[in-house]
Amino acid sequence: MVILVPGGAGFIGSHTCVALLEAGHEVVVADNLCNSKAEVLDRVATITGKKVTFYQIDVTDAEAVNAVMAKHSFNGVIHFAGFKAVAESVEKPLLYYYNNLVSTMVLAQACLKHGVKRFVFSSSATVYGANKVPFVETMALLPPASPYGHTKAMSERILMDLVEANPDWSVMLLRYFNPVGAHPSGLIGEAPTGIPNNLMPYITRVAAGKLARLRIFGNDYPTVDGTGVRDYIHVVDLAEGHVAALNKPAKGVQIYNLGTGRGTSVLQLVHAFEEANGIKVPYEIVARRPGDIAECYADVSKAERELGWKAKRGLVDMCRDAWRFEKNYYVKD
Ligand code: NAD
Ligand code: UFG
Repeated sequence: MVILVPGGAGFIGSHTCVALLEAGHEVVVADNLCNSKAEVLDRVATITGKKVTFYQIDVTDAEAVNAVMAKHSFNGVIHFAGFKAVAESVEKPLLYYYNNLVSTMVLAQACLKHGVKRFVFSSSATVYGANKVPFVETMALLPPASPYGHTKAMSERILMDLVEANPDWSVMLLRYFNPVGAHPSGLIGEAPTGIPNNLMPYITRVAAGKLARLRIFGNDYPTVDGTGVRDYIHVVDLAEGHVAALNKPAKGVQIYNLGTGRGTSVLQLVHAFEEANGIKVPYEIVARRPGDIAECYADVSKAERELGWKAKRGLVDMCRDAWRFEKNYYVKD
């Protein structure tokens, strides 16, 4: 298949490009590089021995998106382009609503215009709100705790309504849990612009001595040790989940959790990182972060049953691969 990958230069997108190319698909990336670098796509080519076609465009720009769509005959779109930091979305809600919703609408509109009927959307576990864990696809969604979460819930709604009106479309809403780690080559990984918002890249930057210490946001949650619990999933497993999703020929809306089904606290992840890599990560406990919930992990049985996909890599792989990427590449920035 020929797949358009908006946001394909980013963390999850770049790993998914590798998985798609390795599975024999042709990949066209559209990214404005607001949180990534074009060199990432050269490294994708080094890993796979295959080239990606790249357009540096903003996918909220309908004219630019339509121009790309007109040049290729796409079989589907996997839409990663968006902003993703929960706390930042509390401070800058309009930025989040605009980028995340307009990008989805512009891409979907262009798909309608160009007859592309397969749309895979990067949704998020945040749409479950403070439901009881583990989160299962059949649950009624509770209001997300942040504007970011609302952008994902609203995008899901928009795409569901679109399928209602266009029953020959296939929309996959993939609800990611917490992707971490990096490609085992150490060539691509999580390389956010500026100070990381997410936990794992913050840990690797502290371990590399680039940031003084990790700030752990709250140790008074009702969890195993008081720190927040998340379902960390190796990004290569997550990327493979997209290939499995593309392989499923299905009309209508399909919703899948992509996680491991295991919850890990912030302190447990810090200790796992220290043990896996033999390096200390200094930290301090600070106040809770706005927009956070206590616990978030997946029921993964549906993806396993229907997609034949299951996360294979564990916490040690996630910690080693994230650290290898930091040492081999990102540390030189
Ligand atoms: P990322 O920031 O590394 O990648 C996003 C990419 O999209 C970047 O390359 C950025 O430059 C690009 N982009 C953003 N807005 C754009 C626009 N308007 N036009 C063109 N390009 C644009 O983030 P990621 O971690 O790879 O996340 C990818 C998607 O998955 C996002 O939609 C995110 O909300 C979702 N998601 C991420 C996580 C996570 O923990 N990383 C979890 C659940 C869902
Ligand atoms: N945390 C810290 N210190 C930090 C960063 C994070 O203690 O410097 C804690 C958070 O409070 C939370 C946990 O580490 O308990 C994970 O935080 P992240 O920022 O890494 O991830 P989130 O769970 O907030 O959100 C991520 C993505 C979202 C996605 C969600 C799905 O950023 O896009 O996972 O579960 F939707």
